[in-house]
Amino acid sequence: MAVLTGAGVSAESGLPTFRDALTGLWAKHRPEDLATPEAFERNPALVWDWYRMRREAALRAEPNPAHLALARLEDLVPRLTIITQNVDGLHRRAGSRTVVELHGDITRVRCSRESTPADTWVEPPAGGEPPKCDGCGAYLRPDVVWFGETLPEKALHRAWAAVYHCDFFLAVGTSNLVEPAATLPWLAAAQGAMVAVVNTTMDGQRSGIGIHHLTGAAGEVLPGLLESAWPGSGGVGRG
Ligand code: OAD
Repeated sequence: MAVLTGAGVSAESGLPTFRDALTGLWAKHRPEDLATPEAFERNPALVWDWYRMRREAALRAEPNPAHLALARLEDLVPRLTIITQNVDGLHRRAGSRTVVELHGDITRVRCSRESTPADTWVEPPAGGEPPKCDGCGAYLRPDVVWFGETLPEKALHRAWAAVYHCDFFLAVGTSNLVEPAATLPWLAAAQGAMVAVVNTTMDGQRSGIGIHHLTGAAGEVLPGLLESAWPGSGGVGRG
C-alpha cells in the first residue's frame, strides 16, 4: 500500500494548509512567494521569519486521528509506505516507520550554500538577519524543498518504487496541484492499483475508473476506514 499525504492531513492538528489564505502578519503574502530561492535572496529575514513561525507551529502541534490511523495501518497491512509532501514531521511523531518526505523537514536547518546540516543556531529577533553557517558564513535556511528546486533524488526513487509496487494507493488531504507528487495517483492507477482519494472536497480532484472518492475530514474518514476493514482497530493508537 502507498499513501500520499498533503497539508490536509495536518489541518486537524491546527496547521493551516497551503491554499488556505494566510492570516495575520502573513495575510499579504502568498506561500508561493515565500517558498522560493529568489524570495530568500530578496528578503532572507522575511523568509526566515515565516519558516520560524511554521517550525514553531509544527513543533507545538500534535498528531491527529488521521496520522494515528495511518501509523496503525502500517501494523495491519503487509507493506505500507507513506509519501508525504508535509514538512511537519507529524507522521513520524505518530509512529509511522516508513515515511518518505518529498519536501524535506521544517525542523531541520542547513547551510544555504553547502547544505551542511546545522544542529544549533541562535534565533535572530523578528525581522533580523538569519543566522549564519559556522563553516562558510552563508545564511542558514530551512531544510525544505522550495519551488524551482529539485526534490531529493533518493526520496523520489523510494516514492516511485512504492507506487509501482502497490495494490492500493490512498491520496489524503492534497490538492494534487504540485508536481511531481501530483502524478503519483495516476501512476498508481495506470499500473493497476486501486486508488482512493480522501479530501474534504472533491472539487479539482480527478475522477476515473478505479478511483474512489471518500469525502470528509481525514481525521474521521481514516479511522472509519480502519474500523470497517479491521473491526475494533478504531484507527487510533497502536498495538
Ligand atoms: P494544499 O493546501 O494545496 O491542499 C490541501 C488539501 O487538503 C485541499 O485539497 C483541501 O481540500 C484538503 N483538506 C483540508 N482539510 C482537510 C481535512 N481535514 N481532511 C482532508 N482533506 C483536507 O496542500 P498540498 O496538497 O499538501 O510545496 O500542497 C502541496 C504542496 O504545495 C506543498 O507541499 C507545498 C505547497 O506549496 C512546497 O512547499 C514545495
